[in-house]
Amino acid sequence: MLITSCYPLRRLRRIRQQPFARRLVAEHQLTVNDLIYPLFVLEGQNIREPIPSLPAIERLSIDHLVKEAQGCHALGIQAVALFPCIAADKKTLDAKEAYNDSGLIPRAIRALKEAIPSLGVIADIALDPYTSHGQDGITDRNGMILNDQTVDVLVKQALCCARAGVDILAPSDMMDGRIGVIRRALEENTFSEVMILAYCAKYASSFYGPFREAVGSKGALGKADKFSYQVSPSNGDEGLHEAALDIQEGADMVMVKPGLPYLDMVYRVKSQFLMPTFVYQVSGEYAMLKAASQHGWIDEKACVMETMLGFKRAGADAIITYYAHQIAQWLHDE
Ligand code: PBG
Repeated sequence: MLITSCYPLRRLRRIRQQPFARRLVAEHQLTVNDLIYPLFVLEGQNIREPIPSLPAIERLSIDHLVKEAQGCHALGIQAVALFPCIAADKKTLDAKEAYNDSGLIPRAIRALKEAIPSLGVIADIALDPYTSHGQDGITDRNGMILNDQTVDVLVKQALCCARAGVDILAPSDMMDGRIGVIRRALEENTFSEVMILAYCAKYASSFYGPFREAVGSKGALGKADKFSYQVSPSNGDEGLHEAALDIQEGADMVMVKPGLPYLDMVYRVKSQFLMPTFVYQVSGEYAMLKAASQHGWIDEKACVMETMLGFKRAGADAIITYYAHQIAQWLHDE
């Protein structure tokens, strides 16, 4: 502590009196360069499907996806993260649609990179949109998630997205060892420039509900949970351990998820590893902010921007949020 004097010589309120001084002393600032927009994509043409638990967010067919992404990029958003809504008849136990080169996600990646080459495209690497049971892994007869068999499929999915031209792969499944195996496969297949954004501290959270409704894994999952692979909300050190392993295995960036209930993890991961650290403000967080705003119980813009500053203060370099497009518009209008 450098404080050498105290009241009345030291009055902290002096720097808070005028707007110019408040701006000068601001330690953190959100810019549009910090934002990543998640997008849900579905088959078909000219389709925009609302998602009841994610007001203002829609599932988009590829033609609309491209338009939406163009709108975001025009406002300065640098990257989008894609999530597929796969038809029920394409979901199987072996999740083979996850590495179909003419599947929905590879086609969406190609369309985006062709129309907007300077927009970063992030693809989620996980099997839950593709399995008939909605789990992120291949299971044995008793429903146990098989780690290494799952990683084999994740590698195929990763290479499939790389072939389509993806910029960043974001493994969100939490199987052991997947970052290293994917990194090696990328190196061996001429994709050494493809980045990996590892969901390192991904928690077994109940805040993913609206997302599971959006991609249609909710019904498939039923009452099952993901506690056998996602980190328990009770554990902080374990999340750090996950981050250490993912970095060692070749992750370029790491991510903490969800956001607000895990700000300590954003802070700890950033200060421990000094790596690009992202945070995911997940669907349930968005739904809470939206619902309270729609009731007129909170000031939407003020509260949303406050959560963003919280992420920046905790050390986040970028934020995935369903509010990204809206925030970019607010920043633009200022
Ligand atoms: C799937 C995945 C999930 C989210 C992103 N990727 C859900 C889950 O793990 O069940 C959640 C995102 C959100 O809630 O916004 N691997």
